[in-house]
Amino acid sequence: MNVPDIIIAIDGYSSTGKSSFAKLVAKEFGFLYLDSGALYRGVTLFAQEQGLIDADNRIDPALEERLAGLDLHFDTDGTHIGARCIEAQIRTLEVSSQVSPIAAVPYVRAFVDRRLREFGEKGRIVMDGRDIGTTVFPNAQLKIFMTASEEVRAQRRYDEMVAKGETPTLEEVLKNLRERDYIDSHRETSPLSRAEDAFELDNSDMSFGEELAWIKGLIQGRFGIL
Ligand code: DC
Repeated sequence: MNVPDIIIAIDGYSSTGKSSFAKLVAKEFGFLYLDSGALYRGVTLFAQEQGLIDADNRIDPALEERLAGLDLHFDTDGTHIGARCIEAQIRTLEVSSQVSPIAAVPYVRAFVDRRLREFGEKGRIVMDGRDIGTTVFPNAQLKIFMTASEEVRAQRRYDEMVAKGETPTLEEVLKNLRERDYIDSHRETSPLSRAEDAFELDNSDMSFGEELAWIKGLIQGRFGIL
């Protein structure tokens, strides 16, 4: 399928399968996939390592200044801080449990947004997150808002973590998911919300093949291509 040089923005709650879907779409259309959540996770890891966030999620205001010297970027093997690949570390429950308070800080969002927008200039990207269609790329030509039932989402995240050798309980994962959903959708700056012009995809009972067929149908309809 000959897809034009558009930006595809995919938003939704945690563990709705956004990144799997976004990667699939990127591969199918030859687009670049960008995971905006990875940058929030990278800032969280950085804050933890620098001792700038405590167990009660209190964030030291010194983080703002330190961000100026943070070389957080995507490389071929994933997210990096300088030469160091942090891809595995940013997926742990330790980082997951503090990422939402970090992502609620306006100067952190400004730091991440600046990096994300640099990619938008070229088009042909699929970016997933919480505010891509509303704040980062409000002019994206195709916006998708993903949902799935809470049980399905918790089970997915649990399976993912177990596959990586972590040993959470399903209850812990569900609790973390609910907390993040709450903080993500109630924060003051760019809360998670569906853009008015986003198409909703509930994939609770869908296979990847069905998801792909769904977006192809959407693109054909929107851009009049075969
Ligand atoms: O998609 P994820 O679970 O890796 O995202 C990690 C956190 O980052 C999530 O709790 C909310 C935040 N996030 C955000 O606020 N805005 C985005 N565009 C992407 C992620």
